[in-house]
Amino acid sequence: MDNKTNHIVWTDDQIADFRQTLLAWYDAEKRDLPWRRDQDPYHVMVSEIMLQQTQVQTVIPYYERFLTAFPTVQALADAPEAQVLKAWEGLGYYSRARNLQKAAQQVTHERGGEWPRTAAGLSELRGIGPYTAGAIASIAYGEAEPAIDGNAFRVFARLLCIPDDITKPKTRQVFDRVIRRIIDPERPGDFNQAIMDLGSSYMAAKNPDPAHSPVARFDASYITDHVLDYPVKTKKPRPVPVDYFAIAVHSEAGWLMTPRPADGLLGGMLMWPLIQKEGLVDIAASSDVAAANAVLSAALGTQLQLLDAGVPIVKHTFTHRQWRLQILRADVQAFTPQDSDYQWADAATLAANSLPTVQKKLFRALE
Ligand code: ADE
Repeated sequence: MDNKTNHIVWTDDQIADFRQTLLAWYDAEKRDLPWRRDQDPYHVMVSEIMLQQTQVQTVIPYYERFLTAFPTVQALADAPEAQVLKAWEGLGYYSRARNLQKAAQQVTHERGGEWPRTAAGLSELRGIGPYTAGAIASIAYGEAEPAIDGNAFRVFARLLCIPDDITKPKTRQVFDRVIRRIIDPERPGDFNQAIMDLGSSYMAAKNPDPAHSPVARFDASYITDHVLDYPVKTKKPRPVPVDYFAIAVHSEAGWLMTPRPADGLLGGMLMWPLIQKEGLVDIAASSDVAAANAVLSAALGTQLQLLDAGVPIVKHTFTHRQWRLQILRADVQAFTPQDSDYQWADAATLAANSLPTVQKKLFRALE
């Protein structure tokens, strides 16, 4: 058993001292961020969803544009999905955008515009996990709920030398219990956001500056000179490489596109057809390229003559996968694809759709 949980435990007096020190620093030094101008739950939800996999500096302009395009939860609920995805273009992880709109629709259509005011209630909205529920409940409604993301794991692991492995699902309960005792019940939203600010400055993952931290005297990892040993996490596996042919078929009708399978990476997003090399069985064909030709020609009901486009392999890395894409190309007369998943997209259609970054890389590679 490696579930240890043997960490520093503060007294009630130390906790009161910590809250006071942290919030005084936050009041004086907090970052001026656009989503901190009010406590509207819609604003908090949009910002927290954007911030989940994306850095603050990247999020700021997206957040501003998103709220200009969809100023209210009702406006987001009623917008065409394509427009929402367009506003999200470049942020990645598009399921976040789709879920965000579904959550807006739940609030607007199922609840008559009434937001759930607790973390438990907020968790019933699409795409709202424990972190986001805690963030919205604490910031918008003053509920004393932890908001445990990577920042909170790192900050509390360091403050208290928590030895539990944060990659293990059970460890969340350890942090949840610890933070519930320490969170300021009067100002839980500010408390959680102060932890985020600490986690992106003095207590950052890389190049932290614990000596100058406003809470240096509470930081057990600093006092014992073990800052970089926390949080404890087992090394994450490298993304697994997957090799594809990316098929660039062009006609006077535009580019041949097809949605990615709904249950996989980039589900539903338009891309050139991809054919996984590992799945190719070289029967009569004399090469993988010929096999790809046969596979796609069969799906389209038209004989293609794909040739290597002569450009370097395009690489794109997701959390768990690295795609390595070899571009094959054919210029053809427009035809009607037999499989209706395939479609021709002209420049206007491409501009109106949000294309995944990897597809943009593919277009750029061909230029
Ligand atoms: N990261 C996640 N949520 C945040 C917030 N509200 N402020 C700053 N950084 C964050």
